[in-house]
Amino acid sequence: MSFDLVLFGGTGDLAWRKLMPALFQAFRHGSLPAGGRILGVARDALSDAQYRDFIRARFEQVEGAKRPSAEEFDRFAALLTYVRMDLSQPADYTRLGQALAQRQADTVVMYLATAPALFTTVCEQLGAAGLNTPHTRLVLEKPLGHDLASNRAINDAVRRVLSERQVFRIDHYLGKPAVQNLFALRFGNALFEPLWRREHIDHIQITIAEDLGVEKRGAFYDSTGALRDMVQNHALQLLCALAMEPPINAHADAIRDEKLKVLRSLQPWTPQTLEQHAVRGQYAAGRVGGEAVAGYLQEPGVSPESTTETFVALRAEIANWRWAGVPFYIRTGKRLAARDAHIVVNFRPAPHAIFDTPMDAANRLVIHLQPRDGLALHLLAQGQDNRQTPRAAAHTLTPVQLDLDFDKRFGTERVGAYERLLLDVIDGRLNLFVRSDEQEEAWRWVEPLLHHWQGHGRGLQPYAAGSWGPISDDPLARSIEPPHTRRA
Ligand code: BG6
Repeated sequence: MSFDLVLFGGTGDLAWRKLMPALFQAFRHGSLPAGGRILGVARDALSDAQYRDFIRARFEQVEGAKRPSAEEFDRFAALLTYVRMDLSQPADYTRLGQALAQRQADTVVMYLATAPALFTTVCEQLGAAGLNTPHTRLVLEKPLGHDLASNRAINDAVRRVLSERQVFRIDHYLGKPAVQNLFALRFGNALFEPLWRREHIDHIQITIAEDLGVEKRGAFYDSTGALRDMVQNHALQLLCALAMEPPINAHADAIRDEKLKVLRSLQPWTPQTLEQHAVRGQYAAGRVGGEAVAGYLQEPGVSPESTTETFVALRAEIANWRWAGVPFYIRTGKRLAARDAHIVVNFRPAPHAIFDTPMDAANRLVIHLQPRDGLALHLLAQGQDNRQTPRAAAHTLTPVQLDLDFDKRFGTERVGAYERLLLDVIDGRLNLFVRSDEQEEAWRWVEPLLHHWQGHGRGLQPYAAGSWGPISDDPLARSIEPPHTRRA
Protein backbone atom coordinates (compact mmCIF):
# COMPACT_ATOMS: atom_id res chain seq x y z
CA MET A 1 0.00 0.00 0.00
CA SER A 2 1.54 3.32 -0.98
CA PHE A 3 1.06 6.44 1.08
CA ASP A 4 1.93 10.12 1.00
CA LEU A 5 2.15 11.84 4.35
CA VAL A 6 1.91 15.61 4.01
CA LEU A 7 3.29 17.23 7.13
CA PHE A 8 1.99 20.78 7.44
CA GLY A 9 4.29 22.48 9.93
CA GLY A 10 7.12 20.36 8.56
CA THR A 11 9.85 22.52 10.13
CA GLY A 12 7.97 23.10 13.40
CA ASP A 13 8.60 21.94 16.91
CA LEU A 14 6.18 19.01 16.88
CA ALA A 15 7.52 17.74 13.56
CA TRP A 16 11.08 17.43 14.68
CA ARG A 17 10.53 16.65 18.36
CA LYS A 18 7.89 13.93 18.01
CA LEU A 19 6.81 13.13 14.46
CA MET A 20 10.09 12.70 12.59
CA PRO A 21 11.60 10.55 15.37
CA ALA A 22 8.42 8.44 15.43
CA LEU A 23 8.42 8.07 11.66
CA PHE A 24 12.08 7.15 11.76
CA GLN A 25 11.49 4.48 14.42
CA ALA A 26 8.63 3.04 12.35
CA PHE A 27 10.96 3.02 9.33
CA ARG A 28 13.73 1.36 11.33
CA HIS A 29 11.37 -1.30 12.69
CA GLY A 30 10.23 -2.02 9.15
CA SER A 31 6.63 -1.14 10.02
CA LEU A 32 6.26 1.80 7.65
CA PRO A 33 4.65 0.41 4.50
CA ALA A 34 7.08 0.35 1.60
CA GLY A 35 6.43 2.92 -1.08
CA GLY A 36 5.72 5.82 1.22
CA ARG A 37 6.66 9.48 0.96
CA ILE A 38 6.83 12.17 3.59
CA LEU A 39 6.24 15.66 2.23
CA GLY A 40 7.32 18.38 4.66
CA VAL A 41 5.35 21.61 4.15
CA ALA A 42 6.43 25.00 5.47
CA ARG A 43 6.91 28.61 4.36
CA ASP A 44 10.70 28.56 4.21
CA ALA A 45 12.41 28.46 0.83
CA LEU A 46 14.10 25.06 1.02
CA SER A 47 15.05 22.47 -1.56
CA ASP A 48 14.48 18.77 -0.86
CA ALA A 49 18.17 18.43 -0.01
CA GLN A 50 18.05 21.39 2.37
CA TYR A 51 15.00 19.98 4.11
CA ARG A 52 16.75 16.65 4.58
CA ASP A 53 19.76 18.48 6.02
CA PHE A 54 17.47 20.37 8.36
CA ILE A 55 15.97 17.10 9.65
CA ARG A 56 19.42 15.47 9.78
CA ALA A 57 20.68 18.29 12.03
CA ARG A 58 17.79 17.66 14.39
CA PHE A 59 18.53 13.95 14.55
CA GLU A 60 22.12 14.76 15.46
CA GLN A 61 20.77 16.10 18.77
CA VAL A 62 19.17 12.75 19.57
CA GLU A 63 21.13 10.71 22.07
CA GLY A 64 21.56 6.98 22.48
CA ALA A 65 20.08 4.14 20.50
CA LYS A 66 17.33 6.28 18.94
CA ARG A 67 19.89 8.24 16.92
CA PRO A 68 20.20 6.96 13.37
CA SER A 69 23.56 6.05 11.86
CA ALA A 70 24.55 8.13 8.82
CA GLU A 71 23.66 5.27 6.52
CA GLU A 72 20.29 4.70 8.21
CA PHE A 73 19.45 8.38 7.99
CA ASP A 74 20.26 8.44 4.28
CA ARG A 75 17.86 5.59 3.65
CA PHE A 76 15.16 7.31 5.70
CA ALA A 77 15.85 10.66 4.06
CA ALA A 78 15.07 9.16 0.66
CA LEU A 79 11.40 9.29 1.77
CA LEU A 80 11.53 13.03 2.48
CA THR A 81 10.60 15.75 0.05
CA TYR A 82 9.69 19.37 0.62
CA VAL A 83 6.87 21.60 -0.58
CA ARG A 84 7.04 25.31 0.11
CA MET A 85 3.62 26.70 0.87
CA ASP A 86 1.90 29.79 2.15
CA LEU A 87 -1.17 28.16 3.66
CA SER A 88 -3.42 31.07 2.79
CA GLN A 89 -2.59 30.91 -0.94
CA PRO A 90 -4.86 28.78 -3.17
CA ALA A 91 -2.14 28.51 -5.81
CA ASP A 92 0.12 26.75 -3.33
CA TYR A 93 -2.49 24.03 -2.83
CA THR A 94 -2.61 23.56 -6.56
CA ARG A 95 1.16 22.96 -6.49
CA LEU A 96 0.73 20.51 -3.62
CA GLY A 97 -1.92 18.76 -5.69
CA GLN A 98 0.54 18.48 -8.57
CA ALA A 99 3.18 16.98 -6.26
CA LEU A 100 0.63 14.43 -5.05
CA ALA A 101 -0.63 13.66 -8.54
CA GLN A 102 2.85 12.45 -9.56
CA ARG A 103 2.33 9.42 -7.32
CA GLN A 104 -1.41 8.73 -7.00
CA ALA A 105 -0.75 7.08 -3.63
CA ASP A 106 -3.39 4.77 -2.15
CA THR A 107 -3.57 6.92 0.98
CA VAL A 108 -2.83 10.60 1.42
CA VAL A 109 -2.43 11.71 5.02
CA MET A 110 -2.71 15.44 5.70
CA TYR A 111 -1.13 15.99 9.12
CA LEU A 112 -1.84 19.44 10.55
CA ALA A 113 1.08 20.01 12.91
CA THR A 114 0.51 23.74 12.61
CA ALA A 115 -0.93 26.47 14.82
CA PRO A 116 -4.60 25.56 15.39
CA ALA A 117 -5.61 28.98 14.10
CA LEU A 118 -4.79 27.62 10.63
CA PHE A 119 -6.91 24.47 10.81
CA THR A 120 -10.05 26.02 9.35
CA THR A 121 -8.18 27.75 6.52
CA VAL A 122 -6.27 24.62 5.57
CA CYS A 123 -9.45 22.53 5.51
CA GLU A 124 -11.23 25.09 3.30
CA GLN A 125 -8.28 25.32 0.95
CA LEU A 126 -7.88 21.55 0.71
CA GLY A 127 -11.55 21.36 -0.25
CA ALA A 128 -11.27 24.19 -2.77
CA ALA A 129 -8.26 22.53 -4.42
CA GLY A 130 -10.03 19.16 -4.60
CA LEU A 131 -7.52 17.56 -2.26
CA ASN A 132 -10.29 16.03 -0.14
CA THR A 133 -10.63 12.77 -2.03
CA PRO A 134 -11.85 9.42 -0.65
CA HIS A 135 -8.14 8.58 -0.19
CA THR A 136 -7.51 11.54 2.11
CA ARG A 137 -7.02 11.23 5.87
CA LEU A 138 -6.73 14.28 8.04
CA VAL A 139 -4.79 14.34 11.32
CA LEU A 140 -5.45 17.13 13.79
CA GLU A 141 -3.26 17.85 16.77
CA LYS A 142 -4.57 19.36 19.95
CA PRO A 143 -5.51 21.96 20.98
CA LEU A 144 -8.63 21.84 18.85
CA GLY A 145 -10.01 25.18 19.86
CA HIS A 146 -9.96 26.95 23.20
CA ASP A 147 -13.62 26.41 24.13
CA LEU A 148 -16.72 24.64 22.88
CA ALA A 149 -17.60 27.23 20.22
CA SER A 150 -14.11 27.33 18.67
CA ASN A 151 -13.89 23.53 18.80
CA ARG A 152 -17.21 23.30 16.97
CA ALA A 153 -16.09 25.80 14.37
CA ILE A 154 -13.07 23.61 13.57
CA ASN A 155 -15.14 20.43 13.51
CA ASP A 156 -17.69 22.11 11.22
CA ALA A 157 -14.97 23.23 8.82
CA VAL A 158 -13.59 19.69 8.77
CA ARG A 159 -17.04 18.18 8.24
CA ARG A 160 -17.63 20.36 5.19
CA VAL A 161 -14.74 18.69 3.36
CA LEU A 162 -14.30 15.22 4.86
CA SER A 163 -16.38 12.56 6.53
CA GLU A 164 -15.80 11.67 10.18
CA ARG A 165 -14.13 8.35 9.33
CA GLN A 166 -11.41 10.29 7.50
CA VAL A 167 -10.53 12.41 10.53
CA PHE A 168 -7.93 11.39 13.12
CA ARG A 169 -7.91 13.65 16.19
CA ILE A 170 -4.82 12.88 18.19
CA ASP A 171 -4.73 12.57 21.94
CA HIS A 172 -1.28 11.08 22.29
CA TYR A 173 -2.12 9.63 25.72
CA LEU A 174 -4.27 7.06 23.94
CA GLY A 175 -1.18 5.90 22.03
CA LYS A 176 0.81 5.18 25.19
CA PRO A 177 1.37 1.46 25.81
CA ALA A 178 0.31 1.95 29.44
CA VAL A 179 -3.05 3.35 28.37
CA GLN A 180 -3.62 0.46 25.99
CA ASN A 181 -2.86 -1.82 28.90
CA LEU A 182 -5.60 -0.13 30.83
CA PHE A 183 -8.05 -1.22 28.13
CA ALA A 184 -6.48 -4.70 28.21
CA LEU A 185 -6.79 -4.86 31.99
CA ARG A 186 -10.45 -3.94 31.91
CA PHE A 187 -11.68 -5.69 28.79
CA GLY A 188 -9.23 -8.57 28.30
CA ASN A 189 -9.46 -9.87 31.87
CA ALA A 190 -12.67 -10.82 33.63
CA LEU A 191 -11.14 -10.59 37.11
CA PHE A 192 -11.81 -6.98 37.98
CA GLU A 193 -15.04 -6.36 36.13
CA PRO A 194 -17.38 -7.55 38.93
CA LEU A 195 -15.55 -5.22 41.33
CA TRP A 196 -15.36 -2.29 38.95
CA ARG A 197 -18.31 -0.34 40.34
CA ARG A 198 -19.62 1.79 43.14
CA GLU A 199 -20.39 -1.16 45.41
CA HIS A 200 -16.67 -1.95 45.68
CA ILE A 201 -14.78 1.18 44.70
CA ASP A 202 -14.51 4.05 47.12
CA HIS A 203 -12.80 6.59 44.88
CA ILE A 204 -10.38 6.84 41.96
CA GLN A 205 -7.43 9.21 41.58
CA ILE A 206 -5.87 10.22 38.30
CA THR A 207 -2.55 12.02 38.63
CA ILE A 208 -0.48 13.41 35.78
CA ALA A 209 2.44 15.17 37.40
CA GLU A 210 5.21 16.77 35.38
CA ASP A 211 8.51 18.05 36.72
CA LEU A 212 9.11 20.17 33.62
CA GLY A 213 7.90 23.76 33.42
CA VAL A 214 6.53 25.39 30.30
CA GLU A 215 9.88 25.09 28.50
CA LYS A 216 9.93 27.19 25.33
CA ARG A 217 6.15 27.29 25.05
CA GLY A 218 5.52 30.11 27.51
CA ALA A 219 3.44 32.25 25.15
CA PHE A 220 1.29 29.33 24.01
CA TYR A 221 0.86 27.98 27.52
CA ASP A 222 -0.04 31.36 28.93
CA SER A 223 -3.13 31.51 26.74
CA THR A 224 -3.97 27.88 27.46
CA GLY A 225 -3.41 26.74 31.06
CA ALA A 226 -3.53 23.30 32.61
CA LEU A 227 -7.30 22.82 32.36
CA ARG A 228 -7.25 23.16 28.57
CA ASP A 229 -3.78 21.65 28.07
CA MET A 230 -4.18 18.46 30.13
CA VAL A 231 -7.62 18.02 31.69
CA GLN A 232 -9.98 18.62 28.74
CA ASN A 233 -8.16 15.94 26.75
CA HIS A 234 -5.63 13.60 28.38
CA ALA A 235 -7.12 13.37 31.88
CA LEU A 236 -10.70 13.03 30.63
CA GLN A 237 -9.66 10.34 28.16
CA LEU A 238 -8.09 8.41 31.06
CA LEU A 239 -11.28 8.90 33.03
CA CYS A 240 -13.27 7.50 30.09
CA ALA A 241 -11.02 4.45 29.84
CA LEU A 242 -11.54 3.82 33.56
CA ALA A 243 -15.27 4.44 33.71
CA MET A 244 -16.67 3.29 30.36
CA GLU A 245 -18.85 0.24 29.94
CA PRO A 246 -17.31 -2.70 28.07
CA PRO A 247 -17.72 -1.94 24.35
CA ILE A 248 -19.56 -4.51 22.25
CA ASN A 249 -16.43 -5.08 20.16
CA ALA A 250 -13.04 -3.49 19.59
CA HIS A 251 -14.11 -1.32 16.65
CA ALA A 252 -13.51 2.39 16.85
CA ASP A 253 -17.11 3.51 17.09
CA ALA A 254 -18.04 0.87 19.66
CA ILE A 255 -15.25 2.19 21.90
CA ARG A 256 -15.99 5.83 21.18
CA ASP A 257 -19.72 5.39 21.82
CA GLU A 258 -18.94 4.15 25.33
CA LYS A 259 -16.44 6.93 26.04
CA LEU A 260 -19.01 9.47 24.88
CA LYS A 261 -21.56 8.09 27.35
CA VAL A 262 -19.12 8.65 30.21
CA LEU A 263 -18.52 12.25 29.17
CA ARG A 264 -22.24 12.83 28.90
CA SER A 265 -22.74 11.39 32.38
CA LEU A 266 -20.26 13.71 34.07
CA GLN A 267 -22.10 15.56 36.81
CA PRO A 268 -22.53 19.16 35.60
CA TRP A 269 -20.90 21.88 37.66
CA THR A 270 -23.03 23.87 40.11
CA PRO A 271 -22.14 27.21 41.74
CA GLN A 272 -21.20 25.21 44.81
CA THR A 273 -19.02 22.57 43.14
CA LEU A 274 -17.29 25.24 41.03
CA GLU A 275 -16.07 26.71 44.30
CA GLN A 276 -15.57 23.54 46.27
CA HIS A 277 -14.51 20.88 43.80
CA ALA A 278 -11.79 22.60 41.82
CA VAL A 279 -8.46 24.13 42.79
CA ARG A 280 -6.02 25.94 40.56
CA GLY A 281 -2.42 26.82 41.26
CA GLN A 282 0.57 28.46 39.68
CA TYR A 283 4.20 27.58 40.37
CA ALA A 284 6.53 29.98 42.04
CA ALA A 285 10.32 29.64 42.04
CA GLY A 286 11.66 26.54 43.74
CA ARG A 287 13.95 23.57 43.29
CA VAL A 288 13.34 20.62 41.02
CA GLY A 289 15.75 17.68 41.10
CA GLY A 290 18.14 19.74 43.23
CA GLU A 291 18.26 22.64 40.77
CA ALA A 292 16.87 26.12 41.36
CA VAL A 293 14.17 26.94 38.80
CA ALA A 294 12.26 30.12 37.98
CA GLY A 295 8.64 30.73 38.85
CA TYR A 296 5.99 30.68 36.11
CA LEU A 297 5.76 34.48 35.95
CA GLN A 298 9.47 34.68 35.15
CA GLU A 299 9.26 32.20 32.26
CA PRO A 300 9.96 33.64 28.79
CA GLY A 301 6.76 34.46 26.91
CA VAL A 302 4.61 34.58 30.07
CA SER A 303 2.92 37.83 31.06
CA PRO A 304 4.25 39.05 34.45
CA GLU A 305 0.64 39.49 35.67
CA SER A 306 -0.56 36.17 34.31
CA THR A 307 -3.28 34.31 36.18
CA THR A 308 -2.94 31.19 34.04
CA GLU A 309 -3.09 27.99 36.07
CA THR A 310 -0.22 25.50 35.89
CA PHE A 311 -1.92 23.14 38.34
CA VAL A 312 -5.46 21.82 38.55
CA ALA A 313 -7.04 19.45 41.05
CA LEU A 314 -10.68 18.64 40.75
CA ARG A 315 -13.31 16.23 41.85
CA ALA A 316 -15.65 14.80 39.23
CA GLU A 317 -18.60 12.49 39.57
CA ILE A 318 -20.27 10.31 37.01
CA ALA A 319 -24.03 10.16 37.28
CA ASN A 320 -24.90 6.63 36.19
CA TRP A 321 -25.73 3.32 37.85
CA ARG A 322 -22.16 2.06 37.90
CA TRP A 323 -20.52 5.13 39.38
CA ALA A 324 -23.05 7.32 41.20
CA GLY A 325 -21.42 8.79 44.30
CA VAL A 326 -17.86 7.64 43.51
CA PRO A 327 -15.47 10.60 43.36
CA PHE A 328 -12.92 10.72 40.57
CA TYR A 329 -10.08 13.02 41.59
CA ILE A 330 -8.04 14.50 38.75
CA ARG A 331 -4.78 16.23 39.51
CA THR A 332 -2.22 17.56 37.06
CA GLY A 333 0.48 20.18 37.16
CA LYS A 334 3.79 21.42 35.88
CA ARG A 335 6.95 21.79 37.96
CA LEU A 336 5.81 19.26 40.51
CA ALA A 337 8.19 17.09 42.50
CA ALA A 338 8.49 14.35 39.88
CA ARG A 339 7.33 13.14 36.50
CA ASP A 340 4.75 10.64 37.58
CA ALA A 341 1.48 9.68 35.96
CA HIS A 342 -0.59 7.04 37.67
CA ILE A 343 -4.11 6.03 38.56
CA VAL A 344 -5.14 4.71 41.96
CA VAL A 345 -8.32 2.68 42.22
CA ASN A 346 -9.20 2.63 45.91
CA PHE A 347 -11.47 -0.23 46.88
CA ARG A 348 -13.78 -0.09 49.86
CA PRO A 349 -12.42 -1.53 53.10
CA ALA A 350 -13.55 -4.93 54.34
CA PRO A 351 -17.07 -4.55 55.70
CA HIS A 352 -16.20 -5.96 59.11
CA ALA A 353 -12.74 -5.86 60.74
CA ILE A 354 -11.54 -8.94 62.57
CA PHE A 355 -7.86 -7.96 62.31
CA ASP A 356 -6.06 -4.82 63.40
CA THR A 357 -5.46 -3.02 60.16
CA PRO A 358 -3.72 0.29 59.55
CA MET A 359 -6.16 3.20 59.30
CA ASP A 360 -5.91 3.67 55.54
CA ALA A 361 -5.33 0.05 54.59
CA ALA A 362 -7.90 -0.71 51.97
CA ASN A 363 -7.05 -2.60 48.80
CA ARG A 364 -5.78 -0.48 46.00
CA LEU A 365 -4.92 -1.06 42.40
CA VAL A 366 -2.25 1.31 41.17
CA ILE A 367 -1.89 1.66 37.43
CA HIS A 368 1.47 3.26 36.67
CA LEU A 369 1.50 5.12 33.37
CA GLN A 370 4.88 6.86 33.36
CA PRO A 371 7.79 6.96 33.80
CA ARG A 372 7.28 3.31 34.73
CA ASP A 373 4.57 1.24 33.16
CA GLY A 374 3.06 -1.37 35.42
CA LEU A 375 0.44 -2.44 37.91
CA ALA A 376 0.56 -2.87 41.66
CA LEU A 377 -2.18 -4.50 43.68
CA HIS A 378 -2.06 -3.51 47.34
CA LEU A 379 -3.22 -6.24 49.68
CA LEU A 380 -2.96 -6.95 53.39
CA ALA A 381 -1.00 -9.86 54.82
CA GLN A 382 0.25 -11.16 58.13
CA GLY A 383 3.30 -9.11 59.14
CA GLN A 384 6.84 -10.34 58.57
CA ASP A 385 7.99 -9.54 62.10
CA ASN A 386 5.88 -12.23 63.72
CA ARG A 387 8.96 -13.70 65.48
CA GLN A 388 9.36 -10.63 67.64
CA THR A 389 5.76 -10.17 68.66
CA PRO A 390 3.97 -13.37 67.71
CA ARG A 391 0.71 -12.65 69.51
CA ALA A 392 0.28 -9.14 68.22
CA ALA A 393 1.30 -10.23 64.73
CA ALA A 394 -1.50 -12.77 64.61
CA HIS A 395 -3.99 -9.90 64.65
CA THR A 396 -2.10 -7.24 62.77
CA LEU A 397 -2.04 -6.99 59.04
CA THR A 398 0.68 -5.33 57.01
CA PRO A 399 0.20 -3.76 53.57
CA VAL A 400 2.01 -5.73 50.83
CA GLN A 401 2.05 -5.38 47.04
CA LEU A 402 1.76 -7.60 44.02
CA ASP A 403 3.85 -5.77 41.51
CA LEU A 404 3.93 -6.14 37.75
CA ASP A 405 6.50 -4.18 35.79
CA PHE A 406 5.56 -4.05 32.11
CA ASP A 407 8.85 -2.43 31.18
CA LYS A 408 10.73 -5.43 32.59
CA ARG A 409 8.25 -7.90 31.16
CA PHE A 410 7.98 -6.45 27.66
CA GLY A 411 11.08 -4.22 27.46
CA THR A 412 11.26 -0.46 27.20
CA GLU A 413 11.64 -0.53 23.42
CA ARG A 414 7.93 -0.96 22.82
CA VAL A 415 6.30 1.09 20.09
CA GLY A 416 6.03 4.68 21.33
CA ALA A 417 2.80 6.70 21.34
CA TYR A 418 3.41 8.75 18.18
CA GLU A 419 4.83 5.81 16.25
CA ARG A 420 1.78 3.75 17.09
CA LEU A 421 -0.64 6.55 16.22
CA LEU A 422 1.06 7.41 12.93
CA LEU A 423 0.96 3.77 11.84
CA ASP A 424 -2.72 3.63 12.80
CA VAL A 425 -3.42 6.67 10.63
CA ILE A 426 -1.61 5.15 7.67
CA ASP A 427 -3.48 1.85 8.18
CA GLY A 428 -6.81 3.66 8.73
CA ARG A 429 -7.46 2.39 12.29
CA LEU A 430 -9.48 4.93 14.27
CA ASN A 431 -9.68 3.17 17.66
CA LEU A 432 -7.17 5.42 19.39
CA PHE A 433 -8.48 8.70 17.99
CA VAL A 434 -11.08 11.01 19.42
CA ARG A 435 -14.40 11.56 17.67
CA SER A 436 -15.78 15.09 17.33
CA ASP A 437 -18.74 14.46 19.66
CA GLU A 438 -16.41 13.20 22.42
CA GLN A 439 -14.30 16.28 22.10
CA GLU A 440 -17.28 18.61 22.15
CA GLU A 441 -18.69 16.90 25.22
CA ALA A 442 -15.37 17.27 27.03
CA TRP A 443 -15.33 20.99 26.21
CA ARG A 444 -18.93 21.32 27.34
CA TRP A 445 -18.00 19.88 30.72
CA VAL A 446 -14.86 22.00 31.37
CA GLU A 447 -16.29 25.25 30.03
CA PRO A 448 -18.20 26.36 33.16
CA LEU A 449 -14.99 26.00 35.13
CA LEU A 450 -13.06 28.02 32.54
CA HIS A 451 -15.65 30.77 32.77
CA HIS A 452 -15.73 30.63 36.54
CA TRP A 453 -11.98 31.08 36.73
CA GLN A 454 -11.98 33.82 34.10
CA GLY A 455 -14.54 35.61 36.24
CA HIS A 456 -12.06 35.45 39.12
CA GLY A 457 -13.83 32.66 40.95
CA ARG A 458 -11.87 30.80 43.52
CA GLY A 459 -8.36 32.21 43.37
CA LEU A 460 -5.10 31.00 42.05
CA GLN A 461 -2.87 29.46 44.69
CA PRO A 462 0.88 29.65 44.41
CA TYR A 463 3.00 26.55 45.01
CA ALA A 464 6.74 26.13 45.12
CA ALA A 465 8.25 24.47 42.07
CA GLY A 466 9.32 20.98 43.13
CA SER A 467 6.44 20.53 45.59
CA TRP A 468 3.24 18.50 45.04
CA GLY A 469 1.24 21.64 44.31
CA PRO A 470 -0.94 23.76 46.58
CA ILE A 471 -2.97 20.77 47.75
CA SER A 472 -1.37 20.07 51.08
CA ASP A 473 -1.59 23.64 52.44
CA ASP A 474 -5.15 24.31 51.48
CA PRO A 475 -8.10 23.12 53.56
CA LEU A 476 -10.48 23.21 50.62
CA ALA A 477 -8.03 21.40 48.42
CA ARG A 478 -7.60 18.76 51.10
CA SER A 479 -11.27 17.92 50.78
CA ILE A 480 -10.73 17.35 47.07
CA GLU A 481 -7.65 15.22 47.15
CA PRO A 482 -7.18 12.58 49.79
CA PRO A 483 -3.90 13.17 51.64
CA HIS A 484 -0.72 12.04 49.98
CA THR A 485 -0.24 9.26 52.48
CA ARG A 486 -2.87 7.42 50.49
CA ARG A 487 -1.01 7.82 47.24
CA ALA A 488 0.81 4.95 45.59
C1 BG6 B 1 0.91 17.75 25.88
C2 BG6 B 1 0.85 19.04 26.62
O1 BG6 B 1 -0.31 17.47 25.28
O2 BG6 B 1 1.25 16.71 26.77
C3 BG6 B 1 2.16 19.33 27.33
O3 BG6 B 1 0.56 20.09 25.71
C4 BG6 B 1 2.54 18.16 28.21
O4 BG6 B 1 2.07 20.51 28.11
C5 BG6 B 1 2.50 16.86 27.42
O5 BG6 B 1 3.85 18.38 28.72
C6 BG6 B 1 2.70 15.68 28.32
O6 BG6 B 1 2.88 14.54 27.55
P1 BG6 B 1 3.81 13.37 28.05
O7 BG6 B 1 3.67 12.32 27.00
O8 BG6 B 1 5.19 13.92 28.16
O9 BG6 B 1 3.29 12.96 29.39
